[in-house]
Formats: sequence, structure tokens, C-alpha cells
Amino acid sequence: MAIANGAIRLEHVTKRYAKVVALNDLSLSVEHGVFGFLGPNGAGKTTAVKILLGLTRPTTGSGSLAGAAFGSKPSLGRIGYLPELFRYQSWLTAREVLALHCELAGIDRARWGSEIDRILATVGLADRGTSRVGTFSKGMQQRLGLGVALLDDPAVVLLDEPTSALDPVGRHDVREIIRALREKGTIVFLNSHLLSEVEQVCDAVAIVDRGKVVAQGDLTQLLRTSSVRVRATGLSREARAAMARFGELDDDADGVVLVKGIERERIPELVSAIVASGARVYAVESQHESLEERFLSLLGQ
Ligand SMILES: Nc1ncnc2c1ncn2[C@@H]1O[C@H](COP(=O)(O)OP(=O)(O)O)[C@@H](O)[C@H]1O
Ligand SMILES: [Mg+2]
Repeated sequence: MAIANGAIRLEHVTKRYAKVVALNDLSLSVEHGVFGFLGPNGAGKTTAVKILLGLTRPTTGSGSLAGAAFGSKPSLGRIGYLPELFRYQSWLTAREVLALHCELAGIDRARWGSEIDRILATVGLADRGTSRVGTFSKGMQQRLGLGVALLDDPAVVLLDEPTSALDPVGRHDVREIIRALREKGTIVFLNSHLLSEVEQVCDAVAIVDRGKVVAQGDLTQLLRTSSVRVRATGLSREARAAMARFGELDDDADGVVLVKGIERERIPELVSAIVASGARVYAVESQHESLEERFLSLLGQ
């Protein structure tokens, strides 16, 4: 099941819809684990997933999914997909929906029964297999959709806002399912606008805003960093070089330098380095306080 490299890859992908730039030169790569694609509504998350699936074409750019060109047949044979908005025929039972997708996925008919049992148990619908979808709550329909995405044990699963219709118990269950997928080595790409959702299950994230990745990496690491505004005089070249070891420098105003992406624990060290360089420090202000603020500030940049 392991995929050598480039499980999910987008390279310089731009997508324009008339005047709207949904994705703007976006690149990302996922090799393993649970990857969160986090951003506000309209950021371009669904567009990125649709491009990976070949449901829409990028205006420019390239990429791959499950080791093959995105949208190609070999790539689609190894993936599972839960769309953001979907609706199954209300007169079908849950088992019938799953059987239909077994057929579409080309699963050997002799395996349908056991596969459907396994899926219903996984998503907590074991006792509702013969109920019609029309009688399902939104949360149950969402579970069924997740079940469809997990049919035949795909190597890569793309989930577009999987918990949007769920209550807290349902969200918890989905998190458990995602964790179980990670345990067995399935790669999960999780679209979400909720920091809290992504925070609890993802190994790595990309924060996306207006079609661009504004930050990428380990979430706790990303959110533990902040920007520090340093007001000082006599900042020599050496002082700036020393400061640049802590984060990316940006000149805010005369005598004010922003050190971006510094880990909080290193702020005292930064101050010592500046003072040691002979500069005179007038103020050091940490810019971000909470997780939520850090997230918002990444979106604001
Ligand atoms: N088929 C389409 N036609 C025109 N504009 C679209 C279409 N699909 C998406 N968009 C626009 O592209 C942007 C990104 O949308 P989307 O990928 O759905 O964002 P997200 O999933 O992050 O909420 C939005 O401005 C949206 O209105
Ligand atoms: Mg979306």
C-alpha cells in the first residue's frame, strides 16, 4: 500500500474562474500521515481537491495523486473521496448505496457483502444498513458518505469538510476513524475551515488563504511561533544577522524590525543577542497571543 513518493502533490497550480482566482500558484506535497488543509470559506480548499480528482482542470500547473498524474485512471483507483456537498438517492438503503459504489469501484462481487459489513461497522451504521437514506439524519448521511470514501481500503483518502454536518459525538467518531486510518498507513487529506478539527488529528497542515499557502508544517510548531516587534537604535549589520537566526526579518518602520516566526521560548535569547551586539533596545513586543490569533494573523499576512 505504501506509495513511494508524491502521494499528493500540487505544483504551481493556479485556477481562475472568470475573474476569481481560486488558487494562486499553490504548491504542496504530502507524503504520509494526516494532512490538514486549513483555511476560511472561499480559500480554495474544495477547488484544490477537485483538481486532484480531475473534476476540474487547473488553469496552469501540474501535480500528482497516489503516484500518478492527477485525474488519471491509475490515481483514481487508489483513492477515496468524501465530497463537501453530496446527496444520495433517498429511496436507497445504506447497503444499496454502498453496493452501488462497490460496483462503480469495480470491486469483485463476491467481496461486496463483507466489505459493506466492514464499512457499516467502521462508520457506526451497522444497525442501519437496511434503512433508507431518506430516513437518515444529516450526521448519518455524512457517516455514510465517509463509508463510501473508505470502500476497498484506499491508499489516499480526501475528505472535504467531513465534520461540518456532525454534532460533537459525530465529530469525535470521525476523529477516531481518521486516527485508525493513520494507524494503518492510509494518507488522509483533510479540508477544514475549523482550526479545532485540524488541530486534533493532523500531523502537518497547510494554512491556505485566498488561494495561497500562507504557512505550512507541523501545526503545534506553527502556532507556537509568533512575531516580535523590536524597537532599537544602533542595529548594526552584525546585529541584524544575529536576529535573522531567530526568524525572518521585516523592516516595519525606522528603527523597528519585525522578527517573524520566532519560537516564543527563544525571545529572551533574541533580546540578549541584540543587546550583545551593542544596539540599544527600547521595546520588544510579542505580536500574537492565542492559537486563534496566530491563525488569524497567518491569514492576515
Ligand atoms: N465553479 C466555480 N465557478 C466560479 N467560481 C468558483 C467556482 N468554484 C469555486 N469558485 C470560487 O473560487 C473560490 C474558492 O472556492 P472553494 O475552492 O470552494 O473554497 P473553499 O472550499 O476553501 O471554501 C471562491 O471565491 C469561490 O467562489
Ligand atoms: Mg470547500
